[in-house]
Amino acid sequence: MPLVKVDSPNVEYSGEHITSHYDYSTVEVREDSGHKICTPSTRRFTIRTERHVPKTGLLMVGLGGNNGTTVLGGILANKYGMTWETKEGTQCANYLGSLTQSSTVRLGTDALKGTDVYVPMSDLLPMVHPNDVVVGGWDISGTNMGDAMRRAKVLDVSLQLQLYPHMKDMVPMPGVYFKNFIASNQEARADNVLRGTKMEQMEQVRQQIRQFRAATGVDKVIVLWTANTERYASVGQGLNDTAANLMAAIERGDDEISPSTIYCVASILEGCSYINGSPQNTFVPGVLELATQHDTFIAGDDFKSGQTKMKSVLVDFLVSAGIKPTSIVSYNHLGNNDGYNLSSPQQFRSKEISKSNVVDDMVASNRLLYQEDEKPDHCVVIKYIPYVGDSKRAMDEYTSEIFMGGHNTIVMHNTCEDSLLAAPLIIDLVVLCELAERIRIMDHTHKTPKYEKMHVVLSLLSYLTKAPIVPPNTPVVNALFKQRDCIINIMRACVGLPPDNHMLLEHKLKTAGSCQRLLATPPTQPTTPGIDQTPPSFAKTDLLPATMVPAADAVDMHSKTITTQFNNRDAEAA
Ligand SMILES: NC(=O)c1ccc[n+]([C@@H]2O[C@H](COP(=O)([O-])OP(=O)(O)OC[C@H]3O[C@@H](n4cnc5c(N)ncnc54)[C@H](O)[C@@H]3O)[C@@H](O)[C@H]2O)c1
Repeated sequence: MPLVKVDSPNVEYSGEHITSHYDYSTVEVREDSGHKICTPSTRRFTIRTERHVPKTGLLMVGLGGNNGTTVLGGILANKYGMTWETKEGTQCANYLGSLTQSSTVRLGTDALKGTDVYVPMSDLLPMVHPNDVVVGGWDISGTNMGDAMRRAKVLDVSLQLQLYPHMKDMVPMPGVYFKNFIASNQEARADNVLRGTKMEQMEQVRQQIRQFRAATGVDKVIVLWTANTERYASVGQGLNDTAANLMAAIERGDDEISPSTIYCVASILEGCSYINGSPQNTFVPGVLELATQHDTFIAGDDFKSGQTKMKSVLVDFLVSAGIKPTSIVSYNHLGNNDGYNLSSPQQFRSKEISKSNVVDDMVASNRLLYQEDEKPDHCVVIKYIPYVGDSKRAMDEYTSEIFMGGHNTIVMHNTCEDSLLAAPLIIDLVVLCELAERIRIMDHTHKTPKYEKMHVVLSLLSYLTKAPIVPPNTPVVNALFKQRDCIINIMRACVGLPPDNHMLLEHKLKTAGSCQRLLATPPTQPTTPGIDQTPPSFAKTDLLPATMVPAADAVDMHSKTITTQFNNRDAEAA
């Protein structure tokens, strides 16, 4: 049950839904005789979020890998409240690195003190807690999860010892293995594979999903690829350009049908969202059409965990500061099985492609710095160095042009525990995807408005992916904080809160510092079911300096009720 309740005539809470009547404001721009003509416009949406959080299952492809075992071990450690000893002392299980579990959102301004009020992101809307997610999956290696966790060498040994009894009896489901898609160095691992034609294997995967659903009693299943990076599959007419051609290609066992395509098609046909955490091009046009036909989300590509995350912050900062990055050179070395697979040229090529376009939108946003077809030099190198294991090293050099022909070079060395960064992203992808499945949006500008899901290409998850796929003909956003704001502001819209504009205008006026005045005369409040209607009274503390203001009863600490019409009305009155 989320703690945040919004007290506004535009928001209704029923047993089943939170319904928000929301005015979405944008600016349309057109060119006219050398001028940019801007027209602000507002569209009315009704956004309905189902309040009941279903029992959610996560099926990972690559369950026995470093990420898979770290996600499973991490969830179990949190669920059982495990603690373990390290050189530094006692460590408790946590969800650090997870946007939904460990980051906060600014709700608004404390009615009395004028200070910012933050809440955990997970308090904004009802969301599944990772501890409640039922985990399963496939792996072409039949090693049980306890030994697979040991093989990964990611978690502390004393934690592994506690987790082992919980994981040793779990074995992954046999997986789809066509050896020409991942590196040949993975072959020795492949002892747990499905047999039969490509169509038969796809049917077996569907069957496995159904069996998991039935055995665990989950209401819904999300399928997520965290298996080895595949080479790119060919895309072509008659092969995978339409849903029908794709199904025909699976039927005839075409060589260019990859294992990831089999899992993805099976998931779509079973009504499960499919998330791609690796760079390969699973989402060919035929898959997109199939997902559209079944109204099933697809999202990806490639987790944005370390180097690219830094890049999508740093380049955004440089370009928006009017500094011109001219050369970005990125080296990585890593020694885990992912690195071993990527030491093969075709698989590396998939990764190189996914890492290469991550600065494009930022570069294109500033034509003062870059001509139409100009980009910084950008190079990515990945080397396999077994000794460093999962502790990936990323070294980046950013050279930029600055004032009056000067140069600025930033060099970064980032030692990032690969799977400890990726695991919380996997959790967020599942939590946010599950939430998105419960949101319906009605666009009142349509002739016959009706509630609809978001587009099947769930670009809402872009923050978590290196090469975000977006609906056709829509902009790709790589800049990290735009991606984060997108998630937060859509969640705010679901509860009728305006986007956080960071203006803090009330603190920039002559009356700055006496914000209690704004609330001195409580407005008449409309009746909203389920919300405390008592108007707060602020008269006595009206002009006290912030340090002397008594503890704020007005903000109920167990339920942060935000009254959205306060600010507008009373700001006008002031
Ligand atoms: N920080 C990160 O860890 C990070 C970031 C971005 C992307 N990724 C991607 O995530 C993926 C997983 O990374 P990892 O470190 O866990 O790799 P890993 O090699 O440890 O695990 C991959 C697992 O997938 C299994 N597998 C391979 N093909 C399969 C198939 N067709 N069906 C079922 N199982 C299959 C392997 O046996 C292995 O256990 C990689 O593609 C990697 O590029 C990882």
